[in-house]
Parts: sequence; structure tokens; C-alpha cells
Amino acid sequence: MIVLGIETSCDETSAALVKNGRDVLSNVVSSSLAFHSKYGGVVPEIASRMQLEAIVKVTDTALRQAGIKRQNIGLVCVTHAPGLLGSLVVGLSFAKALSVSLRVPVLGVNHLCSHIYANFLDARPIRLPFVALIISGGHTSLFFVRDFNAIRSIGATLDDACGEAFDKVAKILGLGYPGGPPIERLALRGDPHKFRFKCSETRRPLDFSFSGIKTAVLYQAKGANVRAPEKADIAASFQEAVVETVARKAMAACRRYKVPRLVVGGGVAANSRLRQVFRQQAPAAGVEVYFPPKPLCMDNAAMVAGLGYRLYMKGARSDLSLGVELN
Ligand code: KG4
Ligand code: ZN
Repeated sequence: MIVLGIETSCDETSAALVKNGRDVLSNVVSSSLAFHSKYGGVVPEIASRMQLEAIVKVTDTALRQAGIKRQNIGLVCVTHAPGLLGSLVVGLSFAKALSVSLRVPVLGVNHLCSHIYANFLDARPIRLPFVALIISGGHTSLFFVRDFNAIRSIGATLDDACGEAFDKVAKILGLGYPGGPPIERLALRGDPHKFRFKCSETRRPLDFSFSGIKTAVLYQAKGANVRAPEKADIAASFQEAVVETVARKAMAACRRYKVPRLVVGGGVAANSRLRQVFRQQAPAAGVEVYFPPKPLCMDNAAMVAGLGYRLYMKGARSDLSLGVELN
């Protein structure tokens, strides 16, 4: 079955065609990031207006790149939660209209669950159950995944998301938005043990907290006066503390739930140092770690089409009353 996926939960407008939940025929992503960077973060009103302008063209491009005609689409899957209200509404309205005009079903997909599914695209299947860690700009969550329709939250951030912490620290260091990639680049030149930053402990061991470490960086950086070498040491020390904490908690989740498989996804999963630390810690924890290819860590519609197909095959259905959910 050929599935069209639509993803508009944040600043991206994406459309993808995926065959049988696995083969990515096309995956077009258009970002309005350049229009947000001068504001230091995503401006929801700008995002949704640009998505409205982009969505038809992005979908046509995806169809053309895949060599697929509209009439061959068997199912339309769309992110309906969580995300920015106006952005989600654009994608959902478009998906519903397409499903009516093509006379095919529409299915709503959860954005976080689709980040997990990015590991299953163009890849060998991973055995169920597994622990999933989603680290993105909006979320930091651990899940116990028994099946794609049986995903249970087992830990989450109590304050900032992991990617949000990278974004805020980058802002403090004057590195621009989004903050993950420039911090990763700067950290290569810094000493990760120069500053003893620590993520705050949480009452429940599988929860996360990043707001304290962000404040510690703020005090260390003392405004804009910090010198370039010290900036690199701050970036490296911050990244090291975050990556170490996230890896330790994810391995602890695998131990606690007695599953030797850990599936990672979301924008922060593109971080090379994070991948390295996870792979270093995994053998001692007896865990096999999976990461999607880096481009599939970011928001994209292929993961939506893929997960939607799997859920549809398991009997999931939506109708035109499908609404957006913000959380
Ligand atoms: O999953 P995503 O594309 O969008 C959300 O659903 O939030 O994630 C975006 C987040 C941003 O906070 C960005 O700074 C972070 O992922 N990010 C990174 C890296 N690339 C993107 N964080 C650390 N290292 C990276 N290389
Ligand atoms: Zn995302």
C-alpha cells in the first residue's frame, strides 16, 4: 500500500510517500527556519502562515519525486498531536481534504511515536518490545514499547526539553537558533571536563530536568563577555553533562524494564557525541542501541506515513471528526 504522510507539527512542512510502512519513495521537507532565526525561536504565527503557502507544493513535489499518481495513494496519514495549534491545523485540514477528494481513509498519528518509527524506515525490523527515548526540541520522553499501538510513557522531562536546553544555551553563547548543531560544532574545540555542569536529579529516576544546567551555564557565561576559548569549553562541558545523563537514564530504563533494546529518535539524536556515548555505554549495560539516519531524526513525513501504515494494519481508524491535540 502506498501511504502519503503529512507533517506540520512545528516549523517544517513535510510530505512523504512510503510503501508498506518501510520503503521511502520520497520525503520532502521544507523549513521556515530562516524566517524565525532572528527571533531566537519558532514564531507560531509565521510557521503556520508559511505552511499554508508551502503544503500543496511540497506534496506535489513528493508525488513527483516518488513517481506516484494521486490515484495510487491508499491512505493519508497526518500528525495531529502534539505540536503548535495553527501548524497542526494546516496539515490536518489539508489531509482531510485530500482524503475526501481521493476517497481514501485519513489516519491521525502522534508526533512522538512517529519519531520512534523513524528507526524502522528502510531498515531491518527491530524486535519488540523495546525502550524508546525521544529527545527533541519539544520533548524528552522515555517509552516502553510493547507494540506500535501499545506505547507507555515511563519518564519525561519536568521542565525544559533536551533540544530546548541546547537552544537556550546556544542563545546564551550567542550561537543562534536552532542551537544543537552549533553547540556540537563548537564543543569539538572545547574541553568537556573544564566545567562541572550537572543535570538536576529528579525524584523519579527516569524523569529528566534541564532547567538547572541551563541556569548554571548562564551564570558561567556571565552575559556576552565570555571569551571564545571559554565558550567552546562551556559548550563541550554542557553537551557532555546532558549526553551522559540522558544515556545513563536510558540504560537504566532498559534495566528496569528488562529489555535489551533501546531505540532513540528526535532532533537531538543527530548529535554525534551523543551517539558515541550511547554506543560506549551500551555493551556494559547489555543493550543494543538503534539510531535513525541523521536526516530522519528531524521532523519529517516519512516517519508519519510509516507508523500510520502499521497502525492502520492493526485496525486503527480516524474519521473527519479527527481534531488536533496540543499535548
Ligand atoms: O525533532 P526535531 O526536529 O523537532 C521537534 O520535534 O522538536 O528537533 C529539533 C531539536 C532542536 O532543539 C535542535 O536544537 C535539536 O533538535 N538538535 C540538536 C542537533 N540537531 C538538532 N541537538 C543537539 N545536537 C544536534 N546535532
Ligand atoms: Zn519532532
